[in-house]
Amino acid sequence: MSESSLDRIISLCKRRGFIFQSSEIYGGFGAVYDYGPLGVELKNNISQLWWKCMTQNHENILGLDSGILMHPKIWEASGHVDAFNDPLVDCKQCNARYRADELVNEDFLNAKWNEIQCPKCGTTGNLTNPRQFNLMFKTNIGPIESDSDIAYLRPETAQGIYVNYLLVQGSMRQKIPFGIAQIGKAFRNEIIARNFIFRTREFEQMEMQYFVQPGADDDAMVEWKNKRYNFYIDELGINKDRLRFHEHGKDELAHYAKEAWDIEYEFPFGWSEVEGIHNRTDFDLQKHQEFSGKNMQYSDQLLNEKYFPYIIETSAGLNRMLLTILCDAYWDDSDNNRIVMKLHPKLAPVKAVVCPLVKKDGLPEIGHKIVDELMKSFKVLYDQQGSIGKRYYRQDEAGTPFCITVDHESKENNTVTLRNRDDQNQDRVSINDLVKIIQNRMDIS
Ligand code: GAP
Repeated sequence: MSESSLDRIISLCKRRGFIFQSSEIYGGFGAVYDYGPLGVELKNNISQLWWKCMTQNHENILGLDSGILMHPKIWEASGHVDAFNDPLVDCKQCNARYRADELVNEDFLNAKWNEIQCPKCGTTGNLTNPRQFNLMFKTNIGPIESDSDIAYLRPETAQGIYVNYLLVQGSMRQKIPFGIAQIGKAFRNEIIARNFIFRTREFEQMEMQYFVQPGADDDAMVEWKNKRYNFYIDELGINKDRLRFHEHGKDELAHYAKEAWDIEYEFPFGWSEVEGIHNRTDFDLQKHQEFSGKNMQYSDQLLNEKYFPYIIETSAGLNRMLLTILCDAYWDDSDNNRIVMKLHPKLAPVKAVVCPLVKKDGLPEIGHKIVDELMKSFKVLYDQQGSIGKRYYRQDEAGTPFCITVDHESKENNTVTLRNRDDQNQDRVSINDLVKIIQNRMDIS
């Protein structure tokens, strides 16, 4: 996949109503995107699948929905106020801004910046030394802006889980090991935001924090690494040749992590992280006890002792996962002069579209009746606009697995043609059997 294929995906996303640039009529708003009708369906399908795999399929994993705004001390305790920084470098000649670690891979603090060339204007000697820049968005609570009323938009959903973990455990009578899953918005004032929805200032995370006895953390790490990797292949249907693990070296580890692995995908712009699996040890719980003065230890009735559990975190970006799925599904079927989004049917925003061959002779009425019936089981659309070929290709781009065509024969024998997106084969089937046939072919019920 080349860089230009990302441009083609971006353009398809706009054309077909998946993703729009934020505030487009005002010239756009940096690194924020809006999800159109198909985008929001796809995003919901992904997050529901993740939620099901985590909470429904694991008896000992429970859900939570904590606030985006939380007590500011949480971010002091977690280390985000002091350590959640990007090192920034500016070019005095052309005002371009870079993350230092993107220009110099290792040891950027000791790099000789006056010898490094600005990639944009090509001059040497104009780059500033790196300055630390905190990525958290600040806001004020209450009517008067003052330093004592500062609140932060959460940069990760994880902390909401940590500060609630004993409440969840107690109210739901959980015993270690158990997990807490959460899906929600997170915000980071990213300096270099690029590659479409890959790195944005507002995004959604799907995080699960798994609480284990200290000493059981290494095994839990192996278990969750495997489970999460397999999710991409078995559940999302991602091509496994485009997936790999990357282990964080010592220099890359976040301030809280003992061990960290990224699941990476080969995007058009290169291999990049989609999800992180981290051993956060007892760092966060220790810190919250220290800063809040409240007990954050788990009381183990079986062992008759109290301890800080270790935490294995699986942290995925919903938007990044969606981009992974879009890149993986994009298929330029040049033999047939069409673009197809080969989305797994269970993820496809719309499962079927109903097309009357012509807008008369009673065919639209039959089409609407079919829509009314199918919509009880899955998302379906009606389309009578343009030639039938154009309608099919529109749906191929939208990733719709099936097109149902109502023709004159439908009036005679209550049948329609059912077109398959990927091989374009068409069968004639009874209208009464449509729901069952589509559900079987999609492998969903
Ligand atoms: N709680 C741990 C944590 O937040 P992270 O590696 O900073 O770890 C986890 O982020 C995931 O969140 C990433 O793998 C990525 O999918 C997503 N993510 C992080 N920053 C993002 C951004 N600016 N835009 C979109 N997704 C982002």
